Amino acid sequence: MQTLTALKALHPEIRADFTIEQHWERYTQAEHGIWRTLYERQMQILPGRAADEFLDGLKKLKLVAERIPNFARLSDDLQRLTGWRIVAVPSLVPDEIFFDHLAHRRFPAGRFIRKPEQLDYIEEPDVFHDVFGHAPMLVHPVFADYMEAYGKGGMRALTEFHALKNLARLYWYTVEFGLIETAKGLRIYGSGIVSSHAETLYALENPKPNRIRFELERVMRTEYRIDDFQESYFVIPSFDRLFDETYKDFAALYRTLQAGPTYRPGEVLASDALAAPKAA
Ligand code: PHE
Ligand code: FE
Repeated sequence: MQTLTALKALHPEIRADFTIEQHWERYTQAEHGIWRTLYERQMQILPGRAADEFLDGLKKLKLVAERIPNFARLSDDLQRLTGWRIVAVPSLVPDEIFFDHLAHRRFPAGRFIRKPEQLDYIEEPDVFHDVFGHAPMLVHPVFADYMEAYGKGGMRALTEFHALKNLARLYWYTVEFGLIETAKGLRIYGSGIVSSHAETLYALENPKPNRIRFELERVMRTEYRIDDFQESYFVIPSFDRLFDETYKDFAALYRTLQAGPTYRPGEVLASDALAAPKAA
């Protein structure tokens, strides 16, 4: 992550909140083509694997294979649905800037698209991860509220409780890499999974990773990997339950978390309830 001053050299028009213009008209046909490749590849495997809420959001936002979405148009639809907007940023932004955007129902998204040789792995979130991966869940009213609450909570965690690590783990294991148990079976909803072809299959069907029933304190004590597929995923029973468990004052929990164990990403505890992989 870079400072505003450093980013100004590359993006002279950058604003104090780190947003820039998307300049949708500047995408080349080759860049739209990369979006198409990624989009089509995901749509071959997401039905029956992604949560209905995700697929429903994708449809309501009219995200299509043909072109990288125009953030202004997309935001007008999203705003009508749940009051969220998508704003362009050059790269990862500082925590307080990120939280402030979320708290005001703005999702900061990278505007660049990965190179053809990076279809399966990128170091920084691009427009496919940020928009295809994140925007559909913002259509879901409960998840939309959860994300705003997370932004507000992030600000408190940062300034009052110094508990950013714990709170970041909650984001990681829900928003980015969450699984949900539905009447039709295990599904994915985390943006990092739904935007990755290989991890979509791995997270649901591979026998290797742990699929652990979501428990707030357990999650907040668990480290995560940023360099490979997750060793553990956490499974929520519903978005309502996720919201109920998190929409409370974390002050007491943050105090509890100051003492006690931290778990390694792949660790399994006797108290964990484990889910079986989805039948392939
Ligand atoms: N309840 C949290 C707090 O008191 C805020 C929060 C809500 C965090 C929802 C994450 C998700 O700080
Ligand atoms: Fe993300």
